[in-house]
Amino acid sequence: MDIKKSRALNGEVIIPGDKSISHRSIMLGGIAEGITEVYHFLQGDDCLSSIDCFRKMGIYIENKHDVVRIHGKGLHGLKQPDSVLNTGNSGTTTRLISGILAAQSFESILNGDESIQKRPMTRIINPLTQMGAQIESLNYNGCTPLKIKGSPLKGIKYRAPVASAQVKSCILLAGLYADKTTSVTEPYLSRNHTELMLKSFGAKLESEHTTTTIYPAHQLLAQKITIPGDISSAAYFIAAALIVPGSQVLIKNVGINPTRAGLLDVCQDMGADITLENIREKDTEPVADIIVKSSSLHGTVIEGAMIPRLIDELPVIAVLACFANGKTVIRDAGELKVKESNRIDTVSGNLALMGANVTPTEDGMIIQGGAPLHGAVIDSNADHRIAMSFAVAALNCEGDTAIKGSKCIDISYPTFFKDLAKLTR
Ligand code: S3P
Repeated sequence: MDIKKSRALNGEVIIPGDKSISHRSIMLGGIAEGITEVYHFLQGDDCLSSIDCFRKMGIYIENKHDVVRIHGKGLHGLKQPDSVLNTGNSGTTTRLISGILAAQSFESILNGDESIQKRPMTRIINPLTQMGAQIESLNYNGCTPLKIKGSPLKGIKYRAPVASAQVKSCILLAGLYADKTTSVTEPYLSRNHTELMLKSFGAKLESEHTTTTIYPAHQLLAQKITIPGDISSAAYFIAAALIVPGSQVLIKNVGINPTRAGLLDVCQDMGADITLENIREKDTEPVADIIVKSSSLHGTVIEGAMIPRLIDELPVIAVLACFANGKTVIRDAGELKVKESNRIDTVSGNLALMGANVTPTEDGMIIQGGAPLHGAVIDSNADHRIAMSFAVAALNCEGDTAIKGSKCIDISYPTFFKDLAKLTR
């Protein structure tokens, strides 16, 4: 995809459904009793992988006319898949589904694409093994393919070494099936969509600081869910409007769950002109319309408890930092190395190609903003967030930019370029 320096962005856009919440709706819908109806489901490749896996386990899922209907079969209603469960590029599918598979009365094999086969799974293998699961990395490298033989599970108290909602959710889902309560303590609180949705399906959970406890469940009950727009997708238009002079956009229907909305705090810190309107609750998740005007930004420090609140937005925040005056420091973000690509390398390497002053570090990067960027040939490394972040950077670069491998954007935002074109025409 080739991108030129853009005129101001104007108009409004409705953001597709949240990826994290879309995954969870399929998984909880599949193990609940009755038909779960999901509106504004994200039709991205990752979420389609979750649908695929549950279909292979005998769950009838209708996906048409803007509503997904999941015909749940209850906690013990899944059937053994007759082939490998293919989780594609999706870390969320792989890790969350493992928590459910660990408790089934059958054996299954999970695998995904080249990127998934490099992502660390010991972070779920360890706690699930402590719970009594039989789970094996078939290549003995702590990655997929994973063979999971369902077993009776014990409740545990687990202290997670990293703040990861995928790990926490995996353990909580296994905890539904355990013999007693299961709790997970994280170093910092990660996104809590699983907890909110589990509660709405009737599970009993308690949360205190960074510890979440789940009680064994007898039954989950199907729900009607309307999914808010994904703030991680909205982030690209927020950033684009901030950096392209003269822009003003209205981004409608964005999820602003505080465990996800760190981007808004950081933008405010950087001096961004952002207003939230029409704040409301959609099912269990808070939602708002966001007005963004181009702004003169300054550098900031992003660290500690803030990191899990904006982990997926760090690539586009790094782009913002290039257009801000002064220095931005991102630290405590070593998790960036184990995302769809090593995002410390792919962000800093590609920004350098555009002429930015960026220094990668062990757990983040330091960006000295203000140097004008120029167009470049950017390799997405098959990472959707890299492709979209650099498409945004290109909007305010001198000269043309080519994004190689931009098809990967279909993973989380298939209509990204169409929506961007509406704002820039
Ligand atoms: C996600 C959690 C985050 C995030 C990922 C989606 C989720 O991963 O990066 O894109 O849906 O739970 P970690 O929990 O591993 O940080």
